[in-house]
Amino acid sequence: MDPEAYMAENRRQWEAWTPLKAASAFYGLDDFRRGGMRIRRLEVEEVGDVSGLSLLHLQSHVGLDTLSWARLGARVTGVDFSAEGTETARSLARDVAPSARFLCANVYDLPRHLDETFDLVYTSHGVLGWLPDLRRWAAVVARFTAPGGRFYLFESHPTAWLFDNRTDSRELAVRYPYFGSGEPLRWRYRSPLAVPEAEADGWEFSWGHTLGGMVNALLEAGLVIEFLHEWPFVAWPMFPFLEERDDGWWHLPADVPAVPLSFSLLARKPAPDAGKDVL
Ligand SMILES: C[S@@+](CC[C@H](N)C(=O)[O-])C[C@H]1O[C@@H](n2cnc3c(N)ncnc32)[C@H](O)[C@@H]1O
Repeated sequence: MDPEAYMAENRRQWEAWTPLKAASAFYGLDDFRRGGMRIRRLEVEEVGDVSGLSLLHLQSHVGLDTLSWARLGARVTGVDFSAEGTETARSLARDVAPSARFLCANVYDLPRHLDETFDLVYTSHGVLGWLPDLRRWAAVVARFTAPGGRFYLFESHPTAWLFDNRTDSRELAVRYPYFGSGEPLRWRYRSPLAVPEAEADGWEFSWGHTLGGMVNALLEAGLVIEFLHEWPFVAWPMFPFLEERDDGWWHLPADVPAVPLSFSLLARKPAPDAGKDVL
C-alpha cells in the first residue's frame, strides 16, 4: 500500500472511534465546556503569553487543546483530517470560543485549503506517528509559520516507543526498532484508553521517527530551533504503570529508571531581515 492508502485506513479508524471517545468520561467534554483547561502549566510557561496571537493547531482532534489556547487569548484555527473530530470541535467552539475556526483537511493538503500565516503553529501529544513523511510535514509547518513567528511541538519521545507497552511489567523491555524502514508498523486496533469496554476491529498504521529526523526536517524547512527539552513524563498513560500527578502529566513510578517519555521543541522562522545589520 502507498502512504495515502495507509492514511486513509487510519482516517477510517479515527472516524469510527472519535464519537465514542468524545462521549467518554476520559475526554470530559462537559467539564471542558464549563471552563476546563487542557494546556498544562509547563506548556504555557514554555510558550509564554499567547493573548492576541494567531495560532494554527495541526491535528487538532476534538479541539480541546485548540480551545484551551483560545481561552488563554489566542485566535485559533484547528486542522484535522477527521470529519467527526472537526464537527465535535466546532460544536464545542460554539459554547467555548465562537470565533475559533476548525478545518477538515489532511495536514499534507493544507496549503490547498488555507492561504495565510500564523504567529504560532502548534501540534502535540500523539501526532507525528500518524505521518509518513516528516520532511513534507516540516515544509507545511514552515509554510504556515509567519516570518518571525514560532512553532511549538510537545510530543511523546521516540525512545518511549521502543518499549513494550502491552504488558504490566515494569522492565521496559525493548520491543520495537528505533530506526524505521519507511514502512509503517501495523497494529491490530485496540480499544482506545478512553473507551476500553468497546469492541475494537481493524488495523492502524504508524511510522517511527527518530529525534534527529524530526529536528533535521525542521532545520531543512528553514526553521531555527530555540530549544529541545526532554521529559520523563507524558500526556497520557502510554504504559499501564504510569502514575498521574497533579501537574497533569503521567509519570514513571520511582522504581523505574528515568527514561525520556516526551520532548518539547520551540522553533522560530527567521524574519526576512534577521541577522542583517541595521544601518
Ligand atoms: C492523538 S490525536 C491528537 C490529540 C490532541 N493532541 C488532543 O489531545 O486533542 C491525533 C489526531 O491526528 C489526526 N490525524 C492523523 N493523521 C492526520 C493527517 N495526516 N492530517 C490531519 N490530521 C491527522 C487524527 O484524526 C487525530 O485527531
